Amino acid sequence: MLNDPAALIVRKKNWNGYVLLKLKSPRIARRSKPGQFLMVRVSDQPYPLLRRPLSVHARDGDCLELFFARTGLGTGMLAGKKTGGALDILGPLGKGFTLPRAAKGRTFCLVGGGRGIAPLYFLAEELKTRGARPRIFYGGKTAADVPLLNKLERLKAEIFLSTDDGSLGFRGFASAMFEKDLDRSARPDGIYACGPDPMMQKIAGIAGERGIPAQLSLESIMGCGIGACWGCVRKIRRGGDPEWVKICEEGPVFPANEVIWSMDEERAHAREEIILTDRQTDR
Ligand SMILES: Cc1cc2nc3c(=O)[nH]c(=O)nc-3n(C[C@H](O)[C@H](O)[C@H](O)COP(=O)(O)OP(=O)(O)OC[C@H]3O[C@@H](n4cnc5c(N)ncnc54)[C@H](O)[C@@H]3O)c2cc1C
Ligand code: FES
Repeated sequence: MLNDPAALIVRKKNWNGYVLLKLKSPRIARRSKPGQFLMVRVSDQPYPLLRRPLSVHARDGDCLELFFARTGLGTGMLAGKKTGGALDILGPLGKGFTLPRAAKGRTFCLVGGGRGIAPLYFLAEELKTRGARPRIFYGGKTAADVPLLNKLERLKAEIFLSTDDGSLGFRGFASAMFEKDLDRSARPDGIYACGPDPMMQKIAGIAGERGIPAQLSLESIMGCGIGACWGCVRKIRRGGDPEWVKICEEGPVFPANEVIWSMDEERAHAREEIILTDRQTDR
């Protein structure tokens, strides 16, 4: 894990509620793998205190890209950064996706909901480089929630689009579109997914019923991102027994059959603690 206190913002693109930042950070860019993330300091001021976790969305030589949705205070502040400015980043963090050893000619389905598409772009690029055939299922609430469509099309992978309201592509959830496609296509060699928990739970079920190996990139509130605070713990089933694991260290990517979907009281309590720590400097 490296710290770059001054990663230069070389490009910024804004859509309605979504932002792409291209950062020059040679050492972190060169070490990053699909599914890994950065902890980003959003302000030079003490508030907000905690860095925010964001996936490595793409890598281009000495640069890497972040793609994020403006969901609250931190991402709102990041969205206000300008080209030519600098960001303090820690990374690359986490274990990321496990890539197939022999990928050539094999088919992998990538399912991304909303901002969950962020790490899948980097993964799709890597799979293409290895000669695999990525099929990308990209879903959002409305047409405004799928701003990466043009960028994905340039990958020359198969793209399937859904919106909850039917304003673009398949009408319904990305998981429903994916399931329909599975019913009429050849069995893929693997599934990779990132998105809201209900979508991931559905994908885990679909993969389990069909016996297709699946990897899920999980989200969690993160206090530190480096294994120090226990704020990101989640129960994961290892060898049959559930155990608490730190999403930041052991994940954020897990095999779908290891993920336990209940929201335990302890996990809710850990989230509360993190949010309080972040906000206390504001008092
Ligand atoms: C490993 C990892 C990778 C991520 N990658 C991306 C990415 O590439 N693009 C992207 O848009 N988002 C990503 N996220 C989610 C992103 O970290 C949160 O949206 C962000 O931290 C919210 O910060 P905020 O200050 O804007 O929101 P806050 O003002 O802190 O909170 C706003 C709302 O967002 C929820 N929230 C806050 N932090 C998280 C979190 N870590 N996960 C889920 N919900 C959260 C809060 O409960 C609240 O409802 C990732 C999260 C993780 C754990
Ligand atoms: S975020 Fe601190 S231990 Fe995982």
